[in-house]
Amino acid sequence: MAPGTLHMNKPVIDMEGSVRALYWSDDRLSVLDQRVLPDQICYEVFDTVEGVAEAIRSMRVRGAPAIGIAAAFGVVLAARQRYRENPQEWRLAIMDDIRCLAESRPTAVNLFWALGEMQGCFDGITGDPEPALLKHATAIHEQDVQANLRMGELGSAVLSDASGVLTHCNAGALATGGYGTALGVIRSGYRKGIEHVFATETRPWNQGARLTVWEFHQDRIPVTMVADSAAASLMATGQVQWVVVGADRITANGDVANKIGTYSLAVLARHHGVRFMVVAPTSTIDRELESGRDIVIEEREQSELLPQYYLDNDSCVEAWNPVFDTTPANLIDAIVTEKGVVHDPDQEGMQRLFDA
Ligand code: MRU
Repeated sequence: MAPGTLHMNKPVIDMEGSVRALYWSDDRLSVLDQRVLPDQICYEVFDTVEGVAEAIRSMRVRGAPAIGIAAAFGVVLAARQRYRENPQEWRLAIMDDIRCLAESRPTAVNLFWALGEMQGCFDGITGDPEPALLKHATAIHEQDVQANLRMGELGSAVLSDASGVLTHCNAGALATGGYGTALGVIRSGYRKGIEHVFATETRPWNQGARLTVWEFHQDRIPVTMVADSAAASLMATGQVQWVVVGADRITANGDVANKIGTYSLAVLARHHGVRFMVVAPTSTIDRELESGRDIVIEEREQSELLPQYYLDNDSCVEAWNPVFDTTPANLIDAIVTEKGVVHDPDQEGMQRLFDA
């Protein structure tokens, strides 16, 4: 499905100096295959919407904002194809492609947000839709980078008294348009004096071990990786003052869906007097959902969790593999967005972000 694969010695770097998880070039979308990092740096080039949907489904591209941006470029590719097939009926035909993209992963709301944004352009288009849609997808990408830079400033100011932080999963340049959400705050905080950065390995897919520590390594920011199960012991040493994570969906009351294990960290943080920060652009806020109970949590294959032995043999062992969980707002000290910081989030505090 990918017409080309580019093996490289170094990743493509953007103007802010961070790794590009995806970029548009020569009328096609290139996606860094995150399944093979850090061993290989390999960009796959997609020129069909089916290819982009598969890249999201298979987690070549992953992380809530990055999925949304990829989907936006997927709509550009779909429009090109549908307009070629039938210039009069492309708006109708493209709805199948939008559905295909929407079904690629369920939890990160940025995917649905970006598809809505792209559809919002359809009505004003006359003639070939590709130039207008490409302009809009590019703007979505650029706005995400700007939001991350802003959140880096706002979040690092909140961390001003911290010497040690712990992050979970990967919420860096790889998971976003660039710079990162949680990792953007840590990058900015490191320049202002954070001394110790800890990252969980993030079982079962190991986004922390494979992606987060690789990003810090690219930036030459010293990082200590811990097994997920070492988090309580780490907090008990007093080396961590804040846990800083990203989000895949935040509901109207400030509940947060993020990578499985986030909820455990929030419970542990409260027990140890460690504060808990969530960093996400407002495109991650789903104001239509009242609380975290309404979020669809993706469950992935048992094979991501179970040793092959139990899959190959007639065994009575099975695995439950939810890949996100929901952290209630009352365990969160601050939600950082590009529009401002919500301390002790609740429904009113979240609403204020949109009133300004
Ligand atoms: O399953 P993934 O790797 O797509 O999940 C991404 C996450 O859950 C991350 O934790 C991240 O914090 C949210 S995206 C910046």
